[in-house]
Amino acid sequence: MRLLVTGGAGFIGSNFISYVLEHTSHSVINLDALTYAGNLENLAEVEKDPRYRFVHGDVADVEILESVFSMKPEAVIHLAAETHVDRSILESGAFVRANVNGTHRLLEIGRRHGVWKFIHVSTDEVYGSLGSTGRFTESSPLQPNSPYSASKAASDLLVRSYFQTYSFPAVITRCSNNYGPCQFPEKMIPLMICNAMDGVPLPVYGDGGNIRDWIHVSDHCAALVRMLEVGEPGEVYNIGSDNQRDNLSLVREILCILGKPESLIQFVADRPGHDRRYAIDSSKIRHALGWSPKIQLPEGLARTVQWYRDHPTWVERVRTGAYRTYYRKMYHQRDRTLSSL
Ligand code: NAD
Ligand code: DAU
Repeated sequence: MRLLVTGGAGFIGSNFISYVLEHTSHSVINLDALTYAGNLENLAEVEKDPRYRFVHGDVADVEILESVFSMKPEAVIHLAAETHVDRSILESGAFVRANVNGTHRLLEIGRRHGVWKFIHVSTDEVYGSLGSTGRFTESSPLQPNSPYSASKAASDLLVRSYFQTYSFPAVITRCSNNYGPCQFPEKMIPLMICNAMDGVPLPVYGDGGNIRDWIHVSDHCAALVRMLEVGEPGEVYNIGSDNQRDNLSLVREILCILGKPESLIQFVADRPGHDRRYAIDSSKIRHALGWSPKIQLPEGLARTVQWYRDHPTWVERVRTGAYRTYYRKMYHQRDRTLSSL
């Protein structure tokens, strides 16, 4: 099958394309705007594969979409998005443009071209924040708390409407926090690993007691392939691997793996609207699709730390001047004693 993967130069997208080319016979068109988060270096190992083709462009650009759909993709895996909560708090316009308008344009063209399946890769953040008990199920109410999660929830509702109104064959997935190779170091795990490797402070928001439910990116990729094969249009599937941790414990685990002192931990001002706890009930995908995760957090975290240790050039290249400017802006407003990188 010919797949259109949007956002394929990002963290999950590049892992997904490598996974598909290794484990299936599908071919892939990768449409990516190459924002600060897109990095073709993530795909260096597959760029010469005859089943792979890259198109540089924006999912909100109708002309680009026309030319991509003239290649007749049969299924779409839609990952392209602005994805970082903190950036959405600084400037939300780009999130609405990419996540809402971009998804709308893609749905429209996909509908006109009669794609066989459309997988909309969404997030557990659309459900908002949990108290001290319970887990998100597919029928939990949508209560997004950041401009990022609100833009994802908006796109989920558009996708739902296309199924209800036009019988458009769309499936929505809602995955928990991913970690693994090639994740841009603005997100918590790679940021903490990179700072710890450099011996600079590890900025923990608030009291460090916020809980996230971690899944290794390769388990997410396997779930998306399964979704392509047997996911039921009109359905929503949570994806998660039952690895909940509070942020402070996770940061301590990273320091321990790297043999670095806990004195590097620096508590800083909290994220506004910071969701306290995520925990995902993924029993539906496990029972209906026969998928289950393979990697538990201690093993996955050790492998991820090793990946960053083994790729100093990748780390150096992505932490450019623009990254340092972002870091200064984001972290000096939280705590003025944080030295820049
Ligand atoms: P990422 O930020 O690493 O990558 C996003 C990619 O999308 C980049 O390559 C970027 O260049 C591209 N992009 C952004 N705007 C675009 C546009 N308008 N047109 C074309 N390409 C564009 O993100 P990620 O962590 O790989 O997340 C991928 C998807 O998975 C997103 O939709 C995100 O909401 C979802 N998701 C992420 C997580 C997570 O923990 N990272 C969890 C659940 C769901
Ligand atoms: O749950 C899925 C979501 O996970 C995805 O939809 C998002 O795209 C992805 O960015 C991620 O969102 P989070 O906000 O949960 O991830 P982030 O890595 O930004 O933060 C994880 C936790 O760590 C969160 O509680 C905030 C905290 N944190 C984060 C950073 C960057 C810190 O304490 N310090 C930091 O410097």
